[in-house]
Amino acid sequence: MNADHARRYFREIYGAEAEVIGSAPGRVNIIGEHTDYNGGQVLPLAIDRRTYVAIRARPGASLSRVVSDSQPARADFDVHSFARRGQWGDYVSAVCAAFASGGARLPQIEASVTSDLPAGSGLGSSAALELATCVSLAAFVSDSRTLKDLALLAWGVENQSVGLACGVMDQFASALCEEGHALHLWCDSLAVEQVVMREAVLIFDTATPRSLRVSQFNQRRLECQEALRLLRQRNPALENLTSAHPDEVRDARLPGDLAKRALHVIEENIRVRQVVESLKKSGSVEGETLYESHESLRTQYECSTPELDWFVERAKKTPGVRGARLTGAGWGGCAIAVGDLEALTSAQHALSSEYDAAFGRKPRIWLTNAAKGAKLERNAR
Ligand code: GLA
Repeated sequence: MNADHARRYFREIYGAEAEVIGSAPGRVNIIGEHTDYNGGQVLPLAIDRRTYVAIRARPGASLSRVVSDSQPARADFDVHSFARRGQWGDYVSAVCAAFASGGARLPQIEASVTSDLPAGSGLGSSAALELATCVSLAAFVSDSRTLKDLALLAWGVENQSVGLACGVMDQFASALCEEGHALHLWCDSLAVEQVVMREAVLIFDTATPRSLRVSQFNQRRLECQEALRLLRQRNPALENLTSAHPDEVRDARLPGDLAKRALHVIEENIRVRQVVESLKKSGSVEGETLYESHESLRTQYECSTPELDWFVERAKKTPGVRGARLTGAGWGGCAIAVGDLEALTSAQHALSSEYDAAFGRKPRIWLTNAAKGAKLERNAR
């Protein structure tokens, strides 16, 4: 999958050349899960699978059109006003409407989407589609916004128009990651630091339906807000949940599951700093911390599944694998593992057949290196 493929697909569909093509990658998060919307830190990297958005003007037309090589049904829409249809095309049309309402003189367009990034697997596919659209449109209307501005625009679109009330991680990772680096992002100040990350990461997509993800995610967000509200009654200076001390949480005797949720968030944030430090020192990810993160996500945040737990347990028994955990929101989706390249490479076959035998489903498994974030692939305007 590359820009040539995107160009050919566009020509096949519309019988003409695309004027601009932008692309943006999916992401995995090394550590820092459910910390972003709590004002904490995260450490994602861009993976080697991308989404391409190709565009040209559609002069004289009253509607725009977008088609995809991997999603059903085309979408027709007006670039100037967003109307939610509950389909993948919403991401493209919502980004267009955000550009138009920001003052861009946008004609109706023809657009195509090509992608090798699995959708709905928790790899940030909606952020990739948003950012690829952003980069294309920015070139299309000669808008000089930075990638960081575009990440914020995409995040606004995701939160207000189309998707999940998510944190900023996915959009920032898709926009700002650099090849050979993980992105250390402070989600309160939006400061970033590129941390060298040369080792490969194994991605294990459990290929499970994600029916509970949105409702459970929203519930966890509310629980975190409530935990913060109660902690602030005792300590009004608390900036956000990740800045609380674990002892504060224990002393506060928060009701129900709130203490577990808060402790996960606070300790996970500490783990981000540990992994960043170890990565800087040794060039490799501290595996034990990934196992700790998974255990906390399983027991405290309760967002794991039997399939994700199976993978992590299996990874622990594999010589040469140093660490593993679920990545992304959880409730299905993907896990990652780090370790010796040879061990990660040779483990894939057995992992696949054993997982199939245990769950009656084939996982998707591959190795990725840290890739480049969103970029403009072609500009012929
Ligand atoms: C989803 C959200 C992110 C983040 C993760 C959990 O991927 O889109 O913003 O909250 O879950 O870390």
